[in-house]
Amino acid sequence: MTAQETIDYIRTLAMTALDGAGSLEDIVAWERAFLGAKGEVTLFLRGLASLPADQRPIAGRGGNALKTELTAAWEARHAALSAGALDRRLAGDAIDVTLPGRPPIFGASHPVSQMIDELSEIFALLGFQTVFGPEIETAHYNFDVLNIPKDHPARDVWDTFYVDLPGEIVLRTHTSPMQGRVMEQTEPPVRVVVPGRVYRYEAQDASHEWMLHQLEGLAVDRTITMADLKGTLAEMARQLFGSERKTRFRCDFFPFVEPGVDFAVDCAICGGAGCRVCKGTGWLEMGGAGMVHPNVLRAVGYDPDIYSGFAFGLGIERLAMMRSGVDDVRAFAGNDLRFLRQFARAA
Ligand code: PHE
Repeated sequence: MTAQETIDYIRTLAMTALDGAGSLEDIVAWERAFLGAKGEVTLFLRGLASLPADQRPIAGRGGNALKTELTAAWEARHAALSAGALDRRLAGDAIDVTLPGRPPIFGASHPVSQMIDELSEIFALLGFQTVFGPEIETAHYNFDVLNIPKDHPARDVWDTFYVDLPGEIVLRTHTSPMQGRVMEQTEPPVRVVVPGRVYRYEAQDASHEWMLHQLEGLAVDRTITMADLKGTLAEMARQLFGSERKTRFRCDFFPFVEPGVDFAVDCAICGGAGCRVCKGTGWLEMGGAGMVHPNVLRAVGYDPDIYSGFAFGLGIERLAMMRSGVDDVRAFAGNDLRFLRQFARAA
């Protein structure tokens, strides 16, 4: 092949390939193959020195002209393909401003949160401040301060999740550890309620969850009596379930109260006649309560000869179940939006 034939051959090769290049990637590869540092044209020009002297000027001129020609062809093709790519992207991104909008989905507060807010308001009117405590708690506050000594069988009543091996750190099994924390930080009089999550290692069923919410109440002063406890809880029940409600207090045992009671409200749904929600008993149990045990007062440095107090612990899911006739506690943490949306209220 003469130099001219080689030039023509490269031109044919390059122009055919450029015609077939359909994308920006293709022509980037094309440029590398023909005009790049190791491309055909570059190699041809670099090889001029080895040609016979009489052919060199023609080959040089021809080679440079080819380079200019291919560069121009490449630029034109590159511009055309870039414009096409932009058009396609714009077409793909097109926004139809005449389409109807999508209505935003509004969240609503969870039924348990609603119940906590409502209880906080009711108790605020009765002079109680709402405070919060840690969910990861020391065995000291969860048990020891509450008159539940180590190795005492009463500890087994609360099916505890231990966080560490020696068993000094637990997921709180009730909100009662805040009794000790609050009293240690405050001089009497004390009036607080403590809503929050508690954890129990137990089998799940329609009325047991391993995570639930309680609301602790604590009042300590010089002249607090059982009558104050009964009046406070009765008032709360009336606010929550209506002015007709009756309350029932029965003896129960909790190491940190003496005397201890469980308390119930007559079923608002059947009026005490017996129904599915109260399981035919006519009563709905709301939690435990009692007069703060002298050992607890002593443990936080209060003199039980001067001060007395009452404490109670309400099951918040339980209250929400009673009020709405929900018969499975697992629904609350089940994350089913169809369930939760039923509790949405207008803001
Ligand atoms: N902490 C108790 C429980 O979880 C409830 C309770 C609170 C009982 C305060 C008496 C006084 O079972």
